[in-house]
Amino acid sequence: MKKFDLILFGGTGDLSMRKLLPAMYRAFAQKSIDPASRIFVCCRKKQDYETLNQTIKTSLEKYLEKSELTDAQWQAFEKILRPVLIDIASDHQGWTDLKQELDKAKHDLRIFYLAIMPSLYASCCEKLAKYELRNASSRLIVEKPLGYDFDSAEAINQSISEYFTEEQIYRIDHYLGKEAVQNLLALRFSNFLFESLWDSKSIDHVQITITETVGLEGRGEFYDSTGAMRDMVQNHLLQLLCLVAMEPPSRLSAEEVRNEKIKVLKSLKPIKASELKNTCVRGQYVSGQIDDVKVPGYLDELENISSNTETYVAIKANIANWRWAGVPFYLRTGKRLNKRNAEIVIQFKQVTHNIYEENQFKLQPNRMVIQLQPEEKILLYLMTKDLGANESEIMPIALHLDYKHSTSSVKPSAYQRLILDAVEGNSTLFIHRDEAKAAWSWVDPIIKQWQSDSDTPEFYKAGSTGPNAAKKIFENAEHSWFELEKHEV
Ligand code: BG6
Repeated sequence: MKKFDLILFGGTGDLSMRKLLPAMYRAFAQKSIDPASRIFVCCRKKQDYETLNQTIKTSLEKYLEKSELTDAQWQAFEKILRPVLIDIASDHQGWTDLKQELDKAKHDLRIFYLAIMPSLYASCCEKLAKYELRNASSRLIVEKPLGYDFDSAEAINQSISEYFTEEQIYRIDHYLGKEAVQNLLALRFSNFLFESLWDSKSIDHVQITITETVGLEGRGEFYDSTGAMRDMVQNHLLQLLCLVAMEPPSRLSAEEVRNEKIKVLKSLKPIKASELKNTCVRGQYVSGQIDDVKVPGYLDELENISSNTETYVAIKANIANWRWAGVPFYLRTGKRLNKRNAEIVIQFKQVTHNIYEENQFKLQPNRMVIQLQPEEKILLYLMTKDLGANESEIMPIALHLDYKHSTSSVKPSAYQRLILDAVEGNSTLFIHRDEAKAAWSWVDPIIKQWQSDSDTPEFYKAGSTGPNAAKKIFENAEHSWFELEKHEV
């Protein structure tokens, strides 16, 4: 276990409080962090040690399971926290104080985590260099969204690359840290059964869904200039698509895995302006009801009467390569939908001839459902005979792999896993600059076309399954969005 210093810029921001500090507490409680490590919580507003710690404790109480936060653990964790007063944009004593504190450590592994606006990345890195805070073994973790299009993302990448090498930069996409996502790799690359069926000869189409019930969560200004395409599709959904579609890497090393993902991103067929209407649907929620609670529409939440920002996207993507030619990848994501769900559905082809047809039994295609949330499970739907029934009465049954029952301890969170990977210097589950470039290259023309179109997003009711138009993107009349609960057997 390596001793390290984590320097958290934006230490009192929403991400730190909701995700990063709870992840670090959990890692500490699970003894994955050496107690000689330290976490520097950088904030702009002067506050005493007790006040800051109380704020952190309150948010741990909110975001961790009740049983996880014990007095004894908290008191031990509190000892590794260090509040730091820093204004990133200006030169002041805080930087020198931070350097002195860092230099006191007997180890020199420094992880700088930029949980701040990307517009501040360059000036933060410049200060780290100027005040000699970084060293050759330092690592820099940067949060998405990295820019709002290809050019701005590259400008940010360029500016941070003046201070850190590509090997030192860890671009985080927390979806890659989710356990079920890593299981997808294990499933694909350690089971002959699936890998030999993993191509256009056997797979009919793939669906990747991330739906949320939450709305803006106080991030209105950020979200309105971002939208679902940049916030979710450019990163999380395309990363999941890569893991489904990539060729087997020759080794599980960062370089090999990232190279295979880049190839997939570069093989994504550009969507032409003339195809946009039938392949990309965008929506925006209006008021509705979720779990019997009335929720406001997007514009009301935003307190703005006009905005064309999309809160929902559905896309039909195609990968132009030998393995996937002709297999549509349907992607969808949206806020304020009927349920929180993230899943990948692999739909296999139908058998070539239905011998049950005469008895009017319609065969359903085999499907593999990899659910990432709310629960982590894998379901494999097979057609089988109903026990005791007539020999020709067949029905779909799901083989069910449920991680909830197969693992006993509290699972590490995505951020916990990824930050500890960065500590270990393992960048396999982080995004290479070239991946980000390739993803923006595919997404940019769609966004530009939307901006120049006179069309506006289609409205959908909060609590619904999304805009009606999202059904139109299926090229085959037999296809439809998969709804898990209807199929649970
Ligand atoms: C973030 C997006 O990257 O992912 C948020 O910025 C979104 O808008 C979140 O809510 C979803 O993450 P998860 O892990 O809750 O599905």
